[in-house]
Amino acid sequence: MTIMAASSREGKTLRDVVFAAGAAAREAAARYGEEKVINATVGCYAGEDEKLACLPVVEQLYRSLPMSDFITYAPPMGLEGYRKAVIDETFEGCRPDGYVDAVATSGGTGAIHIAIANYSEVGDAVLTTDWRWNIYDCLCQEIGRDLHTFSMMDDQGHFNTAAFSAAVSHILHRQDSLLIILNTPANNPTGFALSDAEWADVLEVCRLHEKNGKRISILVDIAYIAYAGEKNRVRSFMTQFAGLPEHIFTMFAFSMSKGYTMYGQRAGALVGLSSSQAVIEEFANLGKYSARTAWSNINRAAMTLLTRIRSDRDLMAQLDLERLAFAKSLLRRADIFTYEADRCGLSYVPYKGGFFISIPTQKSAAVCQALEDDLVFAGPLAQGVRLGVCSIPEIKMQGLAAIVKKAMDRVEGKTDLLVAGK
Ligand SMILES: Cc1ncc(COP(=O)(O)O)c(C=O)c1O
Repeated sequence: MTIMAASSREGKTLRDVVFAAGAAAREAAARYGEEKVINATVGCYAGEDEKLACLPVVEQLYRSLPMSDFITYAPPMGLEGYRKAVIDETFEGCRPDGYVDAVATSGGTGAIHIAIANYSEVGDAVLTTDWRWNIYDCLCQEIGRDLHTFSMMDDQGHFNTAAFSAAVSHILHRQDSLLIILNTPANNPTGFALSDAEWADVLEVCRLHEKNGKRISILVDIAYIAYAGEKNRVRSFMTQFAGLPEHIFTMFAFSMSKGYTMYGQRAGALVGLSSSQAVIEEFANLGKYSARTAWSNINRAAMTLLTRIRSDRDLMAQLDLERLAFAKSLLRRADIFTYEADRCGLSYVPYKGGFFISIPTQKSAAVCQALEDDLVFAGPLAQGVRLGVCSIPEIKMQGLAAIVKKAMDRVEGKTDLLVAGK
C-alpha cells in the first residue's frame, strides 16, 4: 500500500454510524417504498410530507437577495450587523451585563472548533456530557485534545451535578485550565436541558475551582435553542453569567443550521461573554485569526439574511410564528412517542424539546440492527439509540415506541441465549 499522508494523519477515518444507517434507510425506501420505512437517522426538520423543510420567510428573503450578496467576500470576523444581530439572538431578553463580542464561523461546528483550539491546551482534556453529539470527539481529536465525559443524568433524571463536580475536580487536579462543553437546551441526542437551578450548581462548582487559581471556559452549544421553548424562558439561565470572575469565561456556539433551516449554507458564530474587557479583546483577536486561517470568511448572503430578518419587526414576527409551528410539530411527535413509550414500558431520556429522543441501552448497535427488521433505521450511539423526531411524521410516530420496545426485548433475549449457549 502506498502511503502519501503525513505519519501523524495515518489511519484517520470518519466512522459516521448515523450516516451509514441513513444510507441503509434510503436503500430500503427505494426497495420497499418510502411509506414502509421510518428513517429516524436524519438530523434536519422535515414536515409531515417527510421532505426537508425550509422556513418560508427564509426561503422568500434568501431568493430575493442580489447576486452580489452571494459572491462578495466578507470580513473574517463576519459582517458587523450580523455579529451584532447574532449577539442579540443569542441572549434575546436575557443578556447578562458584561463585555460581549462575536466571530462569524462556519456553522456551529466552526464555533466549537475555534473554542477548542483557543481555550484548551494541546494534550489537555476537554469535558462534556456522556450523552453528546459524537462530532465533539472528532473535533477534539483533530487538534490533539482528549474529550472526557461525565454522566449527564442522575437516577432521578436530573443533571448529575455530583458527577460533573467529580469530573471537573479530577481533571483540574492535573490541568490549570479546562474547557467544558454543555449542549443545552434541546440537547442532541436526548432533548434534555439543564434547569436554572442546575446551571447555578454548575457555576458554583466552577467558582470553587476558580478561587483555587484555575481558569475555566464554558462553551454552551445552543444549536437547537430556536425550537426549545419560549425565547426568554429557555434563555433565563444566561442571566447567571453576569459578573462571573474573569477567569470563568463563557462562550456560546450559535448556528443558523436549525434555527434558520440553513444547514448547508454554513453560517454560525462564536459569542464570548466576560466581565473582563481584556478577555473579550483577546477572544476577538484569536477568533479572527482562527477564522482567517480555517475558512477565511463565511457565507455573506446567509449573514445578510439573518441581519435583515432581525432588523425588521414584521419579518421577525413571521420567523417567530414559523419557528413556533415547527416546535409545536416536534412536540406533537414527541408526545405521541413518550405517551406510547410510557404505556409499553420503554424508558427514554427525559425529553424537554428539540430534534431528538434517545433510548438508553448498552447494546445500541444490536438494537438498531434489530429495528431494521421492522424497516426502522436509527442512529446507534455509545449510550443508546437516537431517534430523530425532527424528521418522522406524526403518522409514523404512532406505534414506533412499541417497535423499539420489541427490538430491545429481542436483543436482550438474543444475548441471553448466546450467553446461555456458550
Ligand atoms: C449538538 C450540535 N451542535 C452543533 C451542531 C453544528 O451544526 P452546524 O455546524 O451545521 O451549524 C450540530 C449539528 O448537527 C449539533 O447537533
